Amino acid sequence: MQPASKANQCITRISAHLHPPNFQMEESSGLRHVNCQAKDAAPGFKVAILGAAGGIGQPLVMLMNINLLVSVLRLYDVVNTPGVTADISHMDTGAVVRGFLGQQQLEEALVGMDLVIIPAGVPRKPGMTRDDLFNINTGILRTLCEAIVKSCPKAIVNLISNPVNSTVPTAAEVFKRAGTYDPKRLLGVTTLDVVRANTIVAEVLGLDPREVDVPVVGGHAGVMILPLLSQVKPPCSFTPQEIEYLISRIQNGGTEVVEAKAGAGSATLSMVIPCFGL
Ligand code: NAD
Ligand code: LMR
Repeated sequence: MQPASKANQCITRISAHLHPPNFQMEESSGLRHVNCQAKDAAPGFKVAILGAAGGIGQPLVMLMNINLLVSVLRLYDVVNTPGVTADISHMDTGAVVRGFLGQQQLEEALVGMDLVIIPAGVPRKPGMTRDDLFNINTGILRTLCEAIVKSCPKAIVNLISNPVNSTVPTAAEVFKRAGTYDPKRLLGVTTLDVVRANTIVAEVLGLDPREVDVPVVGGHAGVMILPLLSQVKPPCSFTPQEIEYLISRIQNGGTEVVEAKAGAGSATLSMVIPCFGL
């Protein structure tokens, strides 16, 4: 690379940090993510993470920042986003990282986003079911979805906050009322059940989990988590005792982690894998 061109790139990167692009202008000028040249002239997706300072949010932000498809990363939370943003923005990746703190900055955080990932809310403690989070988390989610309607109604919305079985329909209702609902753009993350099923079945079969594929259907709570053990690849069979063990461990995987981590105050980190698409 020519020295002048390298110097120009450095200036572009520093300038992007000091003067982040004005996305309100981008919206009205019709600039799309493929045109984004925030850093290193790289095209990419604009991604917002709501609840970015939490136990799920922080590792997710880190992985999104090293995702080559991401050019803009917005971190929103009601606490601690300045610290997390300062930290993450030092990574020498292609994405422009910006932090937004508190509800007064929520709509601004969302302007122009292609993808909004939501781990905002309360996690359960030992002895609780995911349903116990319903009132508080659907209340938080409603506010976040109303802001999505205003700032980025066409974004893909990816819900992590529990109970996923209920947060997805709640978000759908907000979007339907606003006339922006698109079933292809609203997702709840349940792939953690597949990740767990692959790992636990692989243990029983004595295989590498990366070679095992267990379809899981239903919802993301207790008996609604249905591993299709007859459809496992590679094809295999289990004894009745193995089936009982596998179903119980897969359905109770979340509870196993919540109880094992009791008091440690840390999140179910393995869920970042399905969200990141590894
Ligand atoms: P956490 O408490 O560590 O983090 C939650 C974050 O949300 C915090 O930073 C908090 O400040 C923020 N928050 C709270 N109210 C907010 C609001 N009104 N707006 C924006 N941010 C807000 O919890 P966690 O361990 O990261 O878990 C987050 C959620 O994800 C929980 O509901 C948990 O049950 C769920 N979860 C789902 C899966 C899944 O597979 N779908 C896996 C793990 C966790
Ligand atoms: C999980 O499955 O680990 C998450 O849904 C968190 C929880 O509360 O179980």
